[in-house]
Amino acid sequence: MKRILKWIFRIVLILFILAFLFVFVAYWRSTNDCDRLSATQGNTMKAIVYCDYGLANLKFTDVEKPSPTDDQLLVKVHAASVNPLDWHFIEGTPKIMRAMGVGLRKPKDTRLGVDFAGTVEAVGKNVTQFKPGDEVFGGRDGAFAEYVCPRADRAVTLKPANITFEQAASVNIAGITALQAVRDKGKVQPGQKVLINGASGGVGTFAVQIAKLFGAEVTGVCSTRNLEMVRSLGADHVIDYTKEDFAKGAERYDVILDNVPNHSLSECRRVLTPEGKYVMIGGGGPNDNRWIGPFGRVIQTLVVGPFVSQKMGMMMAELKKSDLTILGDMMQSGKVKPVIDRTYKLSELPEAIRYLEEGHARGKVVITVE
Ligand SMILES: NC(=O)c1ccc[n+]([C@@H]2O[C@H](COP(=O)([O-])OP(=O)(O)OC[C@H]3O[C@@H](n4cnc5c(N)ncnc54)[C@H](OP(=O)(O)O)[C@@H]3O)[C@@H](O)[C@H]2O)c1
Repeated sequence: MKRILKWIFRIVLILFILAFLFVFVAYWRSTNDCDRLSATQGNTMKAIVYCDYGLANLKFTDVEKPSPTDDQLLVKVHAASVNPLDWHFIEGTPKIMRAMGVGLRKPKDTRLGVDFAGTVEAVGKNVTQFKPGDEVFGGRDGAFAEYVCPRADRAVTLKPANITFEQAASVNIAGITALQAVRDKGKVQPGQKVLINGASGGVGTFAVQIAKLFGAEVTGVCSTRNLEMVRSLGADHVIDYTKEDFAKGAERYDVILDNVPNHSLSECRRVLTPEGKYVMIGGGGPNDNRWIGPFGRVIQTLVVGPFVSQKMGMMMAELKKSDLTILGDMMQSGKVKPVIDRTYKLSELPEAIRYLEEGHARGKVVITVE
């Protein structure tokens, strides 16, 4: 018995040392293309680049202008928008993300931004749906730049003529998240009571309008200064979280869309109908759970789900061309209007991110690229 225990101890020790060495080597080998970054003269563009984690390490610099492949478009970006996703990448938090392929010591991908709107300058030889001069919007990594090259069959679609580039740039992540939360996760039906926690932010302002379009009776939760704005988007009821806690109220909701996970799951369940649906969207601010971020709550949701009558779920938005087109149609018909809080220049991106990190944006924060 003693010999068996000794061997088990040795094996565990060896595995531990190997795991430690593996992480150590992986950490120091973790690098990016910053040493090799150079732009061919005459073929450059301005872009935001970061070689190390942290807001202080963002650089507004010249990089190589991309060329579209056969299936891509070359889009001159006029506006981009900022999302909490961007500060997750900039800060490298939650830190578990770094081990999940984002880069242990340094960010692997040195370019930032996703949402863009702009004009097509050129198309690859296989592209038939778009032509030079088309005004488009969508999502593509590296959108904080003068040019992006989205694939024509991915998240890019024509911009409705009645909305500005700034409005169009604010749609991709926030609008698609709101649409998929209402339609696919919440499965909102006409007449249902829907509570949107965090109704005045990027996702919330779209979610209020889309839930109303789906015929719901909408309650928006926000702070005092945003009550009127959320009401003007169509919310039937507003709750000022500085004065009232929705989780302690008498009302019961068929669907809760949770952008701000500041209530426990049991508090949320208390105000859900017995068959109600809880949709976890938001994962908290940059300083909440810096190691595992929202993953603890995700696991909690998965564990609790099978044992309760209500449907407890989380969502990861999927950037789809078809949903962008639906959002484009909603905007063209005037049924959904993006809400823009502040506008910054591309060179001012650090200030825009700092503002978003405070967690009190009123609608979307937009970057103009000229
Ligand atoms: N799951 C996904 O696929 C997905 C996709 C997109 C975004 N997200 C996540 O969803 C969350 C929201 O994104 P966002 O773009 O809407 O962020 P955002 O624009 O930064 O929204 C912040 C909003 O939260 C509100 N807020 C802050 N504290 C609050 C509280 N205690 N109660 C109610 N509202 C409060 C603020 O309103 P006041 O100023 O009135 O306080 C502000 O309007 C983020 O965590 C983001 O990471 C997830």
